[in-house]
Amino acid sequence: MTQVSMTVNGKAVSGEVEGRTLLSGFLRDSLNLTGTHVGCDTSQCGACVVHVDGVAVKACTMLAGEAEGTEVTTIEGMANPDGSLSTIQQAFQDHHGLQCGFCTPGMVMSAAALLQDNPNPSETEIREYLEGNICRCTGYHNIVKAIMAAAGQDVSKIAAE
Ligand code: FES
Ligand code: FES
Repeated sequence: MTQVSMTVNGKAVSGEVEGRTLLSGFLRDSLNLTGTHVGCDTSQCGACVVHVDGVAVKACTMLAGEAEGTEVTTIEGMANPDGSLSTIQQAFQDHHGLQCGFCTPGMVMSAAALLQDNPNPSETEIREYLEGNICRCTGYHNIVKAIMAAAGQDVSKIAAE
């Protein structure tokens, strides 16, 4: 067992982990931040996306030990300081960008990373960026719509479903 320390959602945290412990496992099992979902554990579904030092990362592809000293943001850290939904979260709600909600934390974290890098993405750029995020409810149309809305775009221009 080794000790890891990092900042998660602005708070300093530490814990004992095995060498094989994934960041997704540390967040969920040690910190009880279960908003980071695990759909595959094999880097395919994107349900576990978090931000590590501002970059979108699939938390099941990173060992907890590799996150030593980093700043991690999970879906629990995405709300506004007053507890209200962030712009992206609100857009997902307003545009029905979720059905069962399993993929939603990863979708929101990926969308936030996209808009950070490209505040005005085209529909095609959004679809391409979300290549690593799978929605088993196949709600992609409204997810794309929500991200366009969060970017302040006219969602009536989105291609028909
Ligand atoms: S659980 Fe990490 S990509 Fe699926
Ligand atoms: S809303 Fe169900 S998996 Fe995407």
